[in-house]
Amino acid sequence: MSTVQRVDPVAALRSVRRYVAGRSAPVDGSGTAVKLSSNELAFGPMPSVERALTEAIGDINRYPLPRAEELQAILASTLGVDVTEVAVGAGSSGLLWQLMAAFVAPGDRVVAHVPNFEAYPIAAGLASAPLVEVPLRLAQRRRALIAAVDDRTKLVVVTNPHNPTGTMIDPASLGRLIDAVGDRALVLLDEAYIEFARPSEQRRWWRDHPNVVVLRTFSKAYGLAALRVGYALADPAVVAALGLTRRRSR
Ligand SMILES: Cc1ncc(COP(=O)(O)O)c(C=O)c1O
Repeated sequence: MSTVQRVDPVAALRSVRRYVAGRSAPVDGSGTAVKLSSNELAFGPMPSVERALTEAIGDINRYPLPRAEELQAILASTLGVDVTEVAVGAGSSGLLWQLMAAFVAPGDRVVAHVPNFEAYPIAAGLASAPLVEVPLRLAQRRRALIAAVDDRTKLVVVTNPHNPTGTMIDPASLGRLIDAVGDRALVLLDEAYIEFARPSEQRRWWRDHPNVVVLRTFSKAYGLAALRVGYALADPAVVAALGLTRRRSR
């Protein structure tokens, strides 16, 4: 018998939606086109970031610290939270995969508004978890999302501010949504664009509701998309679960 087996990808891969990357800016020689299709910052890095990158270049042969402890500590003190409430990951999409790996089993359901960020259907598809897409109608966005939650729902995704509409759910409505979900499912607050909103929109939801996970990123307002750095803010038990899904770096 041959020792070489046919290698097929997992069945879930066949039905996974394809990621369509944002179009590149046309090169028309005028230099006036600005690429907006991937919601990146149109400006290059700040001089302080350039300096830090230049200084770090000599060390890129080394693996990073397992939990990015330095950044984790800076985030904790800047945001006034405990280090056990912060997990750093490979962009907020990387943390989304980790969250799925830690909490979503085949057959569980993920609920999100549609239109939505392309990574949600892909991550749910790879977890073999049907994505229940609730049409985004601003007047009833909270009620429609709650109505879609059933006993198979494991994750409810709230993108705030929302991509691609840029709309927000105000803190009072968000609080009611989180209360309504209760402890039936995790609520993922994707705050990739939160720095563009008022600071008062940033709340420590997970303190009163340990099933809330906040994801943020340095890709958008900080203009560091190529570095792939994001972080989760959550109850220490959720952060610990995320830690177990991380690839060991040493
Ligand atoms: C809503 C939303 N979440 C997350 C991301 C991805 O962020 P990251 O670069 O940290 O993976 C994007 C990027 O377009 C986004 O629109």
